[in-house]
Formats: sequence, structure tokens, C-alpha cells
Amino acid sequence: MCGIIGCILSSGLAAPILFSGLKRLEYRGYDSAGMATIYGGKLYLKKDSGKIDDINSRLNFMDMPGSLGIAHTRWATHGAPSRENAHPHLDCSGTIAVVHNGVIENFLELKRELEDRGHKFTSRTDTEVIPHLIEEGVKSGLNLYEAVLQAVRRLRGSYAIAVISTVEPDKIICARNESPLIVGIGDGAYYCASDIPAILEYTRNFISMDNGEIAVLSLGGIEFRRISDGEFVLKKPFTVDWSIELAEKQGYPHFMLKEIYEQPLSLRNALRLQEQYLDLLSRFIDRGERVFLVACGTSYHACLAASYMFSKIARVAAFPVVASEFLEQYGDSVGIDDVILAVSQSGETYDVLRAVDHARMRAATVLGLTNTVGSTLTRVSRAYIVQQSGPEIGVAATKTFTSQLIVLAQLAMRVANLRGKLSQQESDSLRDSLKGMPEVIGRVLNSCADNVKLLAKRYAKKNLFLFLGRGINVATALEGRLKLLEITYTPSLAFSAAESKHGPISIVEKGVPVIFIAPRDSTRKEIIGNIMEMKARGAEVIALCEEDDREIIGLADHHIPMPKGIPDVLSPIPYIVPLQLFAYYVAVERGLDPDKPRNLAKSVTVP
Ligand code: F6R
Repeated sequence: MCGIIGCILSSGLAAPILFSGLKRLEYRGYDSAGMATIYGGKLYLKKDSGKIDDINSRLNFMDMPGSLGIAHTRWATHGAPSRENAHPHLDCSGTIAVVHNGVIENFLELKRELEDRGHKFTSRTDTEVIPHLIEEGVKSGLNLYEAVLQAVRRLRGSYAIAVISTVEPDKIICARNESPLIVGIGDGAYYCASDIPAILEYTRNFISMDNGEIAVLSLGGIEFRRISDGEFVLKKPFTVDWSIELAEKQGYPHFMLKEIYEQPLSLRNALRLQEQYLDLLSRFIDRGERVFLVACGTSYHACLAASYMFSKIARVAAFPVVASEFLEQYGDSVGIDDVILAVSQSGETYDVLRAVDHARMRAATVLGLTNTVGSTLTRVSRAYIVQQSGPEIGVAATKTFTSQLIVLAQLAMRVANLRGKLSQQESDSLRDSLKGMPEVIGRVLNSCADNVKLLAKRYAKKNLFLFLGRGINVATALEGRLKLLEITYTPSLAFSAAESKHGPISIVEKGVPVIFIAPRDSTRKEIIGNIMEMKARGAEVIALCEEDDREIIGLADHHIPMPKGIPDVLSPIPYIVPLQLFAYYVAVERGLDPDKPRNLAKSVTVP
């Protein structure tokens, strides 16, 4: 996903700050990068396609002069990755530079109009219409702010933009609609960026921009206004206490591995959430006629598991819905009595926000669970919880998944208590299990890593995997499959083990690895039957089962021993961990970079 950053400093060079910001934005996924600065009335521009370090070794961003500038990592949406399509984009005179994250829906119509008036375009991007529109405003006598305002009022679609120009070389103008944008307040410095980690090294004080806002950053301060009527808006800053080290690899070869090993800590943090917010969300859920759990990708798998938690713990039917389908599936029926709990690590996923907007429009109650303070989801939710996992840099979600699960389990418990669905003993026992989860995950990490590494080595060359589970662990199977698929590019299937005879079993033949998630729960008898079905067709079975489950251990070709006594409803939390490690080690075996899978972005802010 594209990322933008800008800075204006009272002294020193902008280029090193912009460069380090670009490096921190890398995790969002990108194919090109570029930077523009202003110095001595002149605009300097460098950009190209490729990896940031490679571009830098060719072009040397560091020798760009000036204490004000903008930079960009591009993830192509319109026009292939190339130098021409990389940002920043300029107007005809080469005095206005723009970086943009988002998609301008009406760019073709604007481009035609601008070309008819003589503007020359050099790229195939939607973004390039913006500097040309601003150029027209400046030429008609508007100041830079007014020209940007006039330009963005013509845009339809999503954008987070930062604009600089030699016509007013002491300002950055930012504007936002639907794409994330924050500003940072430093010591004699102001910043803007698509996300907090990009500038965390330089400041801890931030202000989130909301949809429909424009800001003017200068050394005199920041002014926020509404795009619609130009009225001033008062904004409240917030501080972030993430350590920079937390956002770095801490000695692990990859962020993904570091984040897998961070799970005891991230789970502990997720168990320390403020009671009042858990209570507030639970009360809203309790009042809902229908409860929808809406999310994408890994977060959707957390919702699927949560639907079992809500049903089993609180006797609440909660419907997990893939966010991109929400409008089609429930858009016409969702209403004032419904509750939508949107789950999104980034809090910026386009499809989630679209579902949420629609639900709000139909007067449903929107609740949010996210990992990102100040994200759009937090601002559009009636009440929200920030899961406190710390930044997740690896593109594949790992620690944020287990934290989502533990927060959702806490919510289910509270709703159960409100409804009187749990006895004191059940409630105490579940609470103890929740509390013990960080320690359990620590033990699983210690005990399974070597075993999983060996299995990854053994199976790294296989070109098909099956992941099977039952009950709540259908979600674990789906998530284990997603991890393997996204970072190793291996075609794999995952489904309820019960479904195999309805079709998928036809592809099983000798040597196909089938991974069973098989805790000792109410589905165990059936799972044993499914393992036998697979064995009978020559599959090689790898079972995740309790350490003393002799029957399953006896049937499987390999097993990964798991701790005993985990309640069914919490089992996805420990059982996903070996599968995260398995995907990681298969990727490493194949010489792939697990942190940056091809074609994927950390935060999917476009339709
Ligand atoms: C998979 C992964 C994605 C995200 C999905 C939703 O490892 O990271 O599938 O889970 O893009 O993202 P959020 O949770 O930010 O809405």
C-alpha cells in the first residue's frame, strides 16, 4: 500500500528523515519510491521503481538539500511500477510536488479536462491530476492552501496527500479523505505520514486527520480546516508510548519471527485492557438484536473463531462476515437494532470501513477492535478497543491475530456474565485459563520450534497442503493455511474436516501433507475418523494434538505435542502458533522473505 511522509524542520536536512520514514513505510508493501525537497527556491526530485536501498544507491537521496520535503512508497494501482509512475508527481512548471495514497475515481475525466486546457501528463497515474489542478489554482492567483483546497474539492475517491511548492516554500499542505494520515509535532519540526511508525523516531505526539480535512504545516504551527466549508477545526493531540526497539527486529532475522515470539507479551498486554471499555462494548453487544463480526483476512479468521466463542460462552449468535461481502449479504437488512463489531488490525482496511459506513448510515451500532490508535476505525466506532499488540511490521499477521482472539474471548465472557450464562465456577475457570494463556504460548514456542523447523525442512518442497480442523479450529485451519499461502505461495486448502468427503478429498493422493488441528475437544471422535480417511488415501498426516493423546499420535505420521487442559473456546490461540512457525520456516527454507510477500500489502486501503 502506498505510504506518504513529509517534514518541515527549523534546522537540518529533511532528506535523512524522509529516507528513514521511507524505510519504515516499506512494510506496507511497495514497488517504487521517491522524494522531493525544496531549497533556495528550487524543487529537487528523485524517484524510481525498485527497492528503496537500491534506488538510494543509484540516486542518493541523501544529497537532496533543504529542510522541507515529501516522500512516497508506491504500491501500483494505476500504471505499472516505473520511474514515470513513481511519486512525487509534478505540475507542468515543475514547481508543485504531490505524494498521494489512495485512488482518485474521477481521474480520467479530470485528466481529459486538464489535457484539453493544455496540461502535459508524464505518467499513467491517477495522482498526477492533483498537481495540475493545483497549478491552475496558483496561476489564477490563489495561495497554495487555497489552490490545494480547490483541487481536492474536485476529487472523488480516496486520498491522503502532501503537497509542497516553490511558490510557498515554507509549507506542506496535507489533505485526507478515506486514506490514513497523521501529523506529528516535534521539537522545531512538523511531520505528516500515513502511519505512526514512519515518524515514531522523531516524535511521540500526533494528531490524526479525519476524512474531509486539510492541514497547513509551517514552522508557525499547524492549522486544520474542513475541506467542505474551509472552517477551522480544533484537534486534540495524543501521545504514543511504543518504543522504537519494539518496531525493530531485536536480533531476529525477520519481523515475522520476532512477532511470533512476542506473543506472550502481546497477549499479556491484551489481558490488561481497560475494564471500562470491555464493559462498554459488552453492553452494546448484549443489547444487539443481531451481532455481526466484520473483518478481512486474518482478522476475519479471528471473527470466525469468535462466533464460536460468543455462541458457546455467551449463547449469542454472532455472524462472522467477510467485510467485502457485508453490503451484498446484509446491506439491505442491517438496521438500528444490530451491532457491528468491526475487527481490523490496521483500522484502515477499505472494505471494513465501507461496511462500517454503511452500517452507520442504517443506524446500526458500530464497535471497533483494532491495534491502531487514532485509526479511522477508532473514529467511526461508537466504542472501540485498542488491542495493544504494538506495531506489527511483518506483512503476515501473527501476534495481532492471537491478541484479537483473546480480546474477543474476554468480550464473550463479559456478555455471558451480563446474561447470566456462566456459573461462578465456569467463569472463574475460564478467567484463569485466559490469564494463563501468555505462559501457555511461551511453553508452546519453546517446545515446538525445533520440531516444526524439521517438519518445514522435510515438507518445504511439497506443492500442496491441506489444513483440516473442526468446530472452532476450522478458523485455526483457515488461518494456518493463509499464513503458508501468503508467504510461501504454496497452493493449500483449508476447511472443516467434515467437508472433505463432499469434494476436496478427491485431490488427496500418496504423500500429500495434511495438517490436522486435533485438540481433545468435543469433535475429537470425528477428527479421528477424518485422519483415518486421509491415511487410507496415502496422505501424510501431521497432527497438532495433546501431548499424551496416544490414539492420534499413533495414527499420525508426525505430531506436534500441545499442552493439555486448554478450554475448547481458547484452543485456536495456542494451536495457531506452530502453524505460524511452520509457514515461516517453509518460507525461509525456500529462500523467500517472509516479511515482504509478493503482491501483498500490510494495510489494504483501496477497494
Ligand atoms: C494476513 C493479513 C491480512 C489482513 C487483512 C486485514 O496475514 O495480514 O489478511 O489480516 O488485510 O487487515 P486488517 O486487520 O488491518 O483489517
